[in-house]
Order: sequence, then structure tokens, then C-alpha cells
Amino acid sequence: MPPSPGLVESRRPTLSVIASLLRNPLQALPPEVYRERLVLAKTGGRTSLYVCDPALIQEALTRQAGKLGKGELIRKVLGPAIGEGLLTADGGHWRWQRQAVASGFQHEKLLGFLPAMIEAAEATRGRWQAATTPLDIGHEMMRTTFDIIIETMLSGAQALDVGKVEQAISDYLEPSNFMFLYNLFGLPGWLPYPGRAKARASVTYLRENLRALVAQRRAEPPEHGDLLDMLLASVDPETGRAMSDEEIVDNLLTFVTAGHETTALGLAWTFHLLAQHRDWEARVLEEIAAVTEGGPLQPRHVASLPLTKAVFQEAMRLFPPAPVITREVEEPFTLGGVALKQGWVLYVPIQAVHRHEKLWEQPERFDPSRFLSEAGRGRHRYAYLPFGAGPRICIGSAFATMEAVAILAVLLPALRLEPLPGQAPEPTLKITLRPKHPLQMRASARG
Ligand code: HEM
Repeated sequence: MPPSPGLVESRRPTLSVIASLLRNPLQALPPEVYRERLVLAKTGGRTSLYVCDPALIQEALTRQAGKLGKGELIRKVLGPAIGEGLLTADGGHWRWQRQAVASGFQHEKLLGFLPAMIEAAEATRGRWQAATTPLDIGHEMMRTTFDIIIETMLSGAQALDVGKVEQAISDYLEPSNFMFLYNLFGLPGWLPYPGRAKARASVTYLRENLRALVAQRRAEPPEHGDLLDMLLASVDPETGRAMSDEEIVDNLLTFVTAGHETTALGLAWTFHLLAQHRDWEARVLEEIAAVTEGGPLQPRHVASLPLTKAVFQEAMRLFPPAPVITREVEEPFTLGGVALKQGWVLYVPIQAVHRHEKLWEQPERFDPSRFLSEAGRGRHRYAYLPFGAGPRICIGSAFATMEAVAILAVLLPALRLEPLPGQAPEPTLKITLRPKHPLQMRASARG
């Protein structure tokens, strides 16, 4: 390959990559991604290009988006659970599904979800006030955001058991590093790995329950005005056909999982960071008190809490819930002087871009002021991309941000969270960025 400015080749021995993938795939990222623009890696039979330069990320995810697909790797890992729903589909099938649900994410519609978001946060506050033992904050946030996604998007699904869904998602994601490893080295999918049976059982549980919901709703008039009604009514503009039950289940499962797990993780990391940075917590409390005048949070308050939002944004910079974007090159093109060939894997390592030493001053430091007015000027727009970018940008980004601010503004003024001593949480990559061990904290009422 002709030399390209800013391109480095990672020369980590294959065995060390495998060991990291098994231990914590976050450490399998080539270390160069935290300081270079483009990093090439050859592992197994695959060539991968890590794109860390914001201008090149923009080029790849926007102008060249049509030459990139979600790829075999992602489809093999996520496909057994979410089939070819909105997150995993490509081309015309993706476009149809995106259009089918787009109206559900318009600003006005989202504002209508705020009362349900506040109510779910208030229920969590009640649980925390009554708690006598330490709380698993990750689990608590999963419960809260799960209640919200079901209440706002899937009426009739209240019978789904949040505990079982959470367990099923964890069981599915737990062996995801093995699935990646097998695919990277072209090993056959039938080879055993730890957790495989549990992962399969979890998919059966989730899909069977959603199938029953679709059958029930097909028998009812479409008057819920929710996501499921939109999917049931949608018609493919290319073929004129409606979605099959299995395609609808693909999407419901996509939204139930993508729509609550990521936000919950972002919030769990936010509570962790605020407990380490009480000065910022005090500023957030001041802002909330000024806006609510000490009364209960109202939907109209949520848009007036820029500092609370900045804290959540900064938490997602340090701990992006979806830390790596993966694409496969379907049509060759040139990026930053590098000729990408069909079949190459392109990674945008969001986690590394967010901590890149050439893009951020003191990248490891928690400093929400980076997201307040002036501070962000001069920074490339694609240096920060917790929700991805281009046509495949997260459809739920505004939903998630609104929800997170509402949850923080209900919980923080009522309760102070104290981490249990001796805990330094380790983030681990299981498709999403999860704490390796539960984030245990003790809640006490604020005086
Ligand atoms: C803090 C919370 C969230 C984060 C960090 C996040 C992150 C992301 C990212 C990075 C992508 C792009 C993946 C790629 O390009 O390969 C994505 C896509 C997606 N997200 Fe989110 N997400 C969040 C919340 C949500 C919510 C609340 C929903 C739904 C209510 C949602 C639904 C989706 C869907 C359906 C896609 C696929 C979109 C497409 O390909 O057209 N996400 N998300």
C-alpha cells in the first residue's frame, strides 16, 4: 500500500489481540487509536481500518455512507436477536424501516413523552427512598428507562418482566466477544463457547413475548398511536408489501433493547462521575433548584437545564454507551489517501475519539464545561459522536437526552449517592460499554 500521511499500522501480536478480546474487548483496540488519525490492523484474515480523525469520520459516515454496509460481523453477532431490523439492515430495507418510524421521533411527539419520563423517574425515586441496602445503579437505571420505552413506544407490553428482559439482554451480550472472535478468524458458528446456550434461551424468551404482543395487536384496531401501530401500518415503497410479523418483532426488539440499555448505561456512568465530582453535582443541584423553584419537575423545565445536559454529555464522552461503530466496505473508495478494499472492516472507535490526545485538552478529565456555550467552539463537530453520525445516526438521540435530563433532575435533588468504598469500576465492551461489576451505591435523603 502506498504510504498515507497519518496512517500507522498496528503491529500487536495476534495472540495479544485474542487475549484482550477474551478479557475485555475494549483493550483489543490498538493503542494507537488514542493518538493517531488512521490505524490499520490485520487480524485473522481481516484488514481493519480504525478512523479517528473527525474530518475523515465525517467523510466516511456521511459522503461515503452508501459504500459502507453494517457488515457480516455485526449481522452475525446481533442478527440472531434482532434479525434485520432498523439497526442491522442495509439499503432499501433499512430506508423503509427508518421512514416507517421517523414520525414517532419528531420533536412535538417527544415532548408528549415527558410526563411518562418524569413519572418513571419518580417511581425510581420512591424505590430509592425506601431502600435500606446499597443499590445497583446500572440495574436501577435499566428499570427506569425500560419502563419509559415500554410506556412511550409499546402500549400493551407492560406484561414484559423488566428483570427477565434485563437478564436476557445481559445473557445475550455476555459472550459477544466470543462471537466477534470467531467471526474475525472465520471460525464456524457452530463451535461452542461459554454462555452460548443462555444467549439462545434469552433470544427465545424475548422474541416469543414480542410475537405474542404482535398477534394480540393485529387483532385490535390500530388506535394506540405508538411504534407498533406505525410498524403494522407501514408499506414498503419499493415492493408495496407490509411488514411480516417476524420483521416487526425484529424492530420491536431493536427498540426495546437499543432504546433503553444505552441510556441506562449513560446515566449509571453519570451518577458514578457526579459522586466523584461533588463540585459539579452542587452546580447541577443549583441549576435544578433555580429552574423548578424547589417544586416538582415539570415537563416545561427540562429544556431549561443546560448544565444538567452538559454533565450527561460529558459522561457520554468519557463512557460512550455505544463505544465502537462498525462498517464493512461494500464498494472500494479512498479515505485520507488510503484505498479501502471491499470486505475491509472500518471502525469508528468512539471511545478513543472521545479521549484522543490531539482532540481534547486533558482528555481524561471530567469537565462538563466543554459542552457549555463558548467552550465547544473550534472543536470539530465529529470529535464528539456518542450517537454516531450520517444517515445511520441514532434515531433516539433527542429522546435519550431528554429522558436523561428528566431522570437526573428528578433523582438528584432528592437523594445523594455514595459509592461503596474500594470500588473503581472497570468499563468493559459487550457491544455496549458496561461496568464489569455492578455499580453499587448507597442512597440517602438530602437534608
Ligand atoms: C444515550 C443513549 C443512546 C446512545 C448512546 C445511542 C447510540 C447509538 C449509536 C452510536 C447508533 C449508531 C450505530 C451505527 O452507526 O452503527 C445508534 C443507532 C440507533 N439507535 Fe441509539 N443510542 C441511544 C439511545 C437510543 C434510544 C432511546 C433509541 C430508541 C428509542 C435508540 C434507537 C436506535 C436505533 C433504532 C438505531 C439504528 C438507527 C439506524 O440505523 O437507522 N437509541 N444509537
